[in-house]
Amino acid sequence: MIEAINLVKTFGSLRAVDGVSFQIRPGEIYGFLGPNGAGKTTTLRMLTGTLFPTSGSVRVLGMEMSHQEIAIKRAIGVVPDEPRLYDNLKGAEYIDFVSDIYRLDKKVNQAEVKELSQAFGIDFLDKAIGEYSHGMKQKLMLLSVLMRHPRALFLDEPTVGLDARSARILKMLFEKYAGEQVPIFLTTHILEIAEKMCHRIAIINQGKLVAEGTMAELRQKTGEEKGTLEDIFLQVTGTGENIEELVREL
Ligand SMILES: Nc1ncnc2c1ncn2[C@@H]1O[C@H](COP(=O)(O)OP(=O)(O)OP(=O)(O)O)[C@@H](O)[C@H]1O
Ligand SMILES: [Mg+2]
Repeated sequence: MIEAINLVKTFGSLRAVDGVSFQIRPGEIYGFLGPNGAGKTTTLRMLTGTLFPTSGSVRVLGMEMSHQEIAIKRAIGVVPDEPRLYDNLKGAEYIDFVSDIYRLDKKVNQAEVKELSQAFGIDFLDKAIGEYSHGMKQKLMLLSVLMRHPRALFLDEPTVGLDARSARILKMLFEKYAGEQVPIFLTTHILEIAEKMCHRIAIINQGKLVAEGTMAELRQKTGEEKGTLEDIFLQVTGTGENIEELVREL
């Protein structure tokens, strides 16, 4: 359903993504974790066709990115880490714009927008996007993506900036979509979300996948039998060493 095959992305001499492969099944919520700069966003951008891989390939919904990029983009939903929106448009104008591009049925779309707006507490569609807070932009982005009923979802730290109610609703929606066989690729630094929600978790470090599996599998592989995801994360990324000593010296 979503497949990365030996993906590599280099920027000059940096191998930002260095031979990453995985498969996400229909209805699976796949958490993609890793330290800052590990290669999560770069991977997501290759998976969604906004960045061309140096080598390797991407398949989404049975289509090859290199051959059917437009068809893939039409079918998927992408929520980037920094919502890129048009400051001088009003929220409602942006929604109309997206609705036109994707040729959505106006009536159906209006009903959809109304329902999602109620769920996320969006009451600012008549305001210019330039006046939005980060969380408001994030909500508008989510609205513009979810209203299209994408057949695969890619989200880069989607809960950042969301209030507790909206984050809860988003998490519940993920579960609903997963139940409808939508595959979901999700990056997050909130390990609690990954631990609770994701069916499988992958951890990337310096461009390479260093762990992948269900929580039970990760615990077994790392020997952290009773460990939390934080314990596992710190172990496999090697970022947990000397923390106490460092803090003491600060
Ligand atoms: N356009 C670019 N040009 C040069 N280097 C880049 C570019 N985009 C990303 N990088 C580098 O690639 C590496 C991976 O970046 P990426 O944004 O994928 O990290 P990330 O895992 O999403 O991190 P974060 O958790 O901070 O969002 C970093 O070293 C980054 O500086
Ligand atoms: Mg990122």
